[in-house]
Amino acid sequence: MTVKSSTDYKDAPTELANPFRVDDEVTIGDAPCALVIFGASGDLTQRKLIPAVFALRQGGYVDSHNPLIGFARSSRSDEQFRAEMSEALKKFSRMRSATVEEFTAFTNDLYYQVGDYSDPETFVTLGKRLEELAEKHGTHGNCLFYLATPPSSFGMILKNLKVSGLVDESNGAFRRVVVEKPIGTDRDSARKLNLQIHDSFSEKQVFRIDHYLGKETVQNILAFRFGNGIFEPLWNRRYIDHVQITVAETIGVGSRAGYFDTAGIARDMLQSHILQLMTLIAMEPPIAIRGESIRDEKVKVLRAIKPFTRMEAIRNVVRGQYQPGVVDGADSLGYLEEEDVPTKSQTETFVALKLEIDNWRWSGVPFYIRTGKRLAKRVSQVNIVYRRPPLAFFEEFGCDAPEQNVLGIRIQPEEGISMSFVSKRPGPSFHIDPVRMDFKYSSAFAKQTPEAYERLILDAMLGEASLFAREDEVDLSWKLIDPIIESWSGANAAPLYHYQAGNWGPEESSALLERSSREWLRL
Ligand SMILES: NC(=O)c1ccc[n+]([C@@H]2O[C@H](COP(=O)([O-])OP(=O)(O)OC[C@H]3O[C@@H](n4cnc5c(N)ncnc54)[C@H](OP(=O)(O)O)[C@@H]3O)[C@@H](O)[C@H]2O)c1
Repeated sequence: MTVKSSTDYKDAPTELANPFRVDDEVTIGDAPCALVIFGASGDLTQRKLIPAVFALRQGGYVDSHNPLIGFARSSRSDEQFRAEMSEALKKFSRMRSATVEEFTAFTNDLYYQVGDYSDPETFVTLGKRLEELAEKHGTHGNCLFYLATPPSSFGMILKNLKVSGLVDESNGAFRRVVVEKPIGTDRDSARKLNLQIHDSFSEKQVFRIDHYLGKETVQNILAFRFGNGIFEPLWNRRYIDHVQITVAETIGVGSRAGYFDTAGIARDMLQSHILQLMTLIAMEPPIAIRGESIRDEKVKVLRAIKPFTRMEAIRNVVRGQYQPGVVDGADSLGYLEEEDVPTKSQTETFVALKLEIDNWRWSGVPFYIRTGKRLAKRVSQVNIVYRRPPLAFFEEFGCDAPEQNVLGIRIQPEEGISMSFVSKRPGPSFHIDPVRMDFKYSSAFAKQTPEAYERLILDAMLGEASLFAREDEVDLSWKLIDPIIESWSGANAAPLYHYQAGNWGPEESSALLERSSREWLRL
């Protein structure tokens, strides 16, 4: 057995079942396959991938028909790899309370292959190993390759997989590849990487991961919008004044300064996670909730976003960099004092912008987006801000104009959805006060929320690509981001504003909304 059937999903210890997948179609034996992780000695493998596969195993979604081969350049034996991954599970797994037998059963199905990504011979050895494991574990030759190395190695790995015949599906076994972000650093480099990918794999074999899409709360946007009758009619320019999306972190760059300083937050967060989130909020109802339909609708949104000219980017985008301050009650360094950050770095750690979507539904409704490091609070939230009622009845009772209704979708932490509205204050006068209705995941569903990587790895094994970025999505998102990043260099470059660590970014971020008498809502 490899993947649980629909009825089994109900009894599983974690709620992993995709509410949008027709579970009847997930049958026992759907996904026997080996998982090969390139870059298996790295941070992502230890912290996310191995714990995710272990959770899938504990949930009964995969089993010994799903052996895992870690591949990297540094030498270690199978036994050493198993021992290292056991340690990683003790530190990072959400299922740390599993029994010794369960841990051992899992780690026994882990293998390690040392090799140089540029050496085709290593891939021939890998192929032989896969054949042995197909025999031993009954994988039917199916294989999911996971590129978890630095992107500089992606091209070599893709090429050698092809050269050694490992991408060939002609015998009926599937060969798929998961590609980690970042997909390029601009439109040109993303196109080059996509060409390299397609030189080895067809698009239906490719799963470009954006772990945001694996988050339960992000998928719940689809359930909320299309599983309820009452919200969708109000989801348009007629009722919505504007939309705010905030993805705020309190952490700085930590040990990732080397990568972050060359990327910046626009590439790291905006091009991928935040545009993905925005497209789910803005898209039209798909014709189905799986397969290509969702991706088709997301692409239409990306096409409809008004592109920035250089001048518009300078006017509608604010970039910032944190200076020393206080975060969560502790003194915090400025970005330029962080280890491995060049002393004169101009890299942005904050970006805020106003986007407009030129289509029938959203014309005239601005989307304000902000994301940054070392901000006041760790929170990711979408706020849909509704128009005010047409008449201000209550001023005669000394009330201010009623606050706008806000539908808040909290991605993290305290995942949930809230609706603010006004209510009459008890008493003889007609005073109104804002109140809130709250749905909290933790109180509605007692079960532990699965990690995004669990869902995404399982989907890739099952060949369900709707939660992965398609080539055209990546291309269009870079088309939008490139002019913004270009406006930050050359003559008349947009200024880099500074903000104290622990604030909500530079003041200019607020000014972006104040121009049209709006303000960022308190989170
Ligand atoms: N870590 C995260 O939370 C995270 C989040 C999102 C996306 N990602 C993406 O996931 C991928 C892996 O991230 P990671 O943090 O695990 O990376 P990492 O720890 O820097 O690297 C993974 C492994 O790749 C090998 N490697 C390092 N530099 C290499 C080079 N120049 N050429 C070839 N191999 C090299 C190393 O193994 P050997 O030396 O043993 O070969 C290393 O253990 C990256 O593309 C990253 O952008 C990571």
